[in-house]
Amino acid sequence: MKRGFMLAAALSCAAALVMGCSRDASGDRAAQPVLGFSQIGAESEWRTANTASIKSSLAKAGIQLRFSDAQQKQENQIKALRSFIAQRVDLIAFSPVVESGWETVLREAKAANIPVILTDRAVDVSDDSLYVTLIGSDFVEEGRKAGRWLLQDTPAGSGEVRIVELQGTVGSAPAIDRMEGFHEVIDKDPRFKVVRSQSGDFTRAKGKEVMEAFLKAESSKIDVLFAHNDDMAIGAIQAIEEAGLKPGKDIKIVSIDGVRGAFKAMEAGKLNATIECNPLIGDQLVDAVKAVLEKRPLPKRILVEEGVFTQDQAAAALPGRKY
Ligand code: AHR
Repeated sequence: MKRGFMLAAALSCAAALVMGCSRDASGDRAAQPVLGFSQIGAESEWRTANTASIKSSLAKAGIQLRFSDAQQKQENQIKALRSFIAQRVDLIAFSPVVESGWETVLREAKAANIPVILTDRAVDVSDDSLYVTLIGSDFVEEGRKAGRWLLQDTPAGSGEVRIVELQGTVGSAPAIDRMEGFHEVIDKDPRFKVVRSQSGDFTRAKGKEVMEAFLKAESSKIDVLFAHNDDMAIGAIQAIEEAGLKPGKDIKIVSIDGVRGAFKAMEAGKLNATIECNPLIGDQLVDAVKAVLEKRPLPKRILVEEGVFTQDQAAAALPGRKY
C-alpha cells in the first residue's frame, strides 16, 4: 500500500517536471502549468474567434488559463502583465494592441524568469530576448495581397483609380504593416492613388463613421475602398448604401481577415475580395507553450498559412468557414 502511494507520488512529480509547474503562494508547485493571457479586447469578429481558439486549445491541453481582456487599452495590458508576474504564472502570452511601449514590463517579466510568447501582433523592442517567439500572420504580405488583387482586378488601360483606406488601430502592427504592403504594390502603378486614409480602429462602428466622412468630403468619385479588416469594411458598406451607392459595384471593396461576415457580404455582391488572416492559432500556442516548458528551442517567428477569397468563391467556401 505504502509502496503504491510512493510510486504514484513519484510519477506525478515526474509528470509535473515534464509539464512545467506553476508556483502558488507557499512556493509549492502545481502539476498544471499556468498561463496568463492578455487579449486586446473584442473589437472584431476576428478577435472573438481568436479568443475562442486560444481558450479551447489551452483547455484541451490541460493548461490553466488566467485570461484578461484589455478593452483595447495598452495600460490595461500592462496592468494585466504585471498582475501575472505578481501571481508568478509559468508563462505569459499576449497580443499587444500597439507596437511600442513594452520594453519596461517585458524586462520585469524577464527578471522574474517568466517566458513571454507574443500572439498575433509584434512589439517594437530593442532586445528581442524579451520574448520567446511571435505566433501570427505576415501582415505586410496581407497588404501586398490586397494590392495585387486590386491590380489584377483593374482592367489594363483604365484611368486614375481613386482609393480610400480605412486603417486599423493607430500604432498597431497590422495597421502599419498592411499599409506598407499595400503601398509597396500599388505605388508602382501611377494610376492608383490613395486619396484619403484614416483609422477606423478595427471596429464596424468606426469603419462606418469614417466612411461617411470620406463620402461627404470627396466631391470626386471614390473607386475603391481598402479596409484593414472585414469589420470596418462591413461598417463602411452600410455607409455606402445609406449614401445611395452600391458597395461592390460603384465602389470596389477589398478587406482583410476572411471572417464569415465578409463571406456573406461577398455572397450578396457587396464586398469584392477578402484576404485571409487566420485567427485560429490556439493549437500553435499550445505547441509553443509545451516547447518552452520542455526547454526545446523555438523559431523567433511562427507564421500562419492564409489565402485570398473573391466573390465567385464565396458561396462554395462559406459553409466550411470556421470563423
Ligand atoms: O491583429 C489582427 C487584426 O486585429 C485583425 O485583422 C482585426 O480584425 C483584429 O481586430
